[in-house]
Amino acid sequence: MPRALNRQITLARRPSGIAGPDDFALIESPLPEPADGEVLVENLYLSLDAAIRSWMKADCSYFPPIAIGEPVRSTALVRVLASRHPAFKPGDHAVAYACSAWQDYSVIAGDAMFAVEESPDFPLHYHLSIFSAMGLTPYFGMLDIGQPKPGETALISAAAGAVGSLAGQIARIKGCRVVGIAGSDEKCRKLVDEMGFDAAFNYKGKNTEQLSREIAALCPNGVDIFFDNVGGEILDAALLNLAMFARIAFCGAIGDYTKNGPIPGPYNYWQILARCATVRGFLTLYYKDQFPAAIAEMKGWLDNGQLKFTEDISVGLESVIPAFAKLFTGENTGKLLVRLSDY
Ligand SMILES: NC(=O)c1ccc[n+]([C@@H]2O[C@H](COP(=O)([O-])OP(=O)(O)OC[C@H]3O[C@@H](n4cnc5c(N)ncnc54)[C@H](OP(=O)(O)O)[C@@H]3O)[C@@H](O)[C@H]2O)c1
Repeated sequence: MPRALNRQITLARRPSGIAGPDDFALIESPLPEPADGEVLVENLYLSLDAAIRSWMKADCSYFPPIAIGEPVRSTALVRVLASRHPAFKPGDHAVAYACSAWQDYSVIAGDAMFAVEESPDFPLHYHLSIFSAMGLTPYFGMLDIGQPKPGETALISAAAGAVGSLAGQIARIKGCRVVGIAGSDEKCRKLVDEMGFDAAFNYKGKNTEQLSREIAALCPNGVDIFFDNVGGEILDAALLNLAMFARIAFCGAIGDYTKNGPIPGPYNYWQILARCATVRGFLTLYYKDQFPAAIAEMKGWLDNGQLKFTEDISVGLESVIPAFAKLFTGENTGKLLVRLSDY
């Protein structure tokens, strides 16, 4: 039975630094009505993604910025309540990629949703974690852009995070030596002892020169693949250690999302030419035609124990804002989800 009112977290102002409670407003509004081609859905799980913070900026890069007063845009696992789209009926489940919001109910264009079905093999919300951007981003970034070959060295930033830990494990499956960069000694220990990384180091408190020395010591033959989630000084240090014909998968720049104003480009850009390196950015959504085959391969690796992943699930709309901050303080312990309702 739907609530009488829709609780919504809207953007109250453009945040400075890590977004906190004063940047948002909690409002209630009547349940929206779907128009032709649209669907009214209940949001069951929200995916808290670092990119949402970049959409809160006035100069957001690849989607229109979230307007002040608008509910915060999000990817969600949803259940259809009412449909005016031929592909959906009440009770169906779907994933709404970057077109739902931090609220109980949304009206969404049916064409923008991906239908998903319950399976005896895994929980439905895996369609929002391992079989969604969390798992498929490292899959396509590492395999399509990284092109890993046995004996090569892969370096991963934000390596203990949801995307990074899988990127490293996939490179390992392909026979690479894998080195991670993370924000605490404990995270580095887990990468090596539990995720099969060959080595890891803590980046905190180190400048570009010190980071570069750490990378050089752990990647003596140079870095063939750099899977970059962070940007900034870590990217600059990685550029100084590229092997010839290195590939850089530009996945994200979480170190920049909370900064305002122009972001400086990499100082060591010239190394891309000197090492004949390739840099490619990517957005996982553009691989959507290949999702079924990728999910099947990921599932095989999960089933045979070659891939490990964790989820960090908080409960209730009121937990969204403190949970979201964890992405930027490094306190999240896996893919961040918020459960609003059961399947
Ligand atoms: N291209 C795509 O299609 C796509 C899709 C999904 C995600 N992404 C990107 O993937 C990256 C990881 O996202 P995720 O959802 O998996 O999050 P996550 O890695 O699970 O969590 C974010 C982690 O980033 C690290 N971090 C935060 N601020 C940092 C800073 N200033 N410098 C260095 N590290 C910092 C923290 O770990 P530490 O403790 O190690 O600092 C934090 O735990 C993000 O850049 C995101 O935008 C890209």
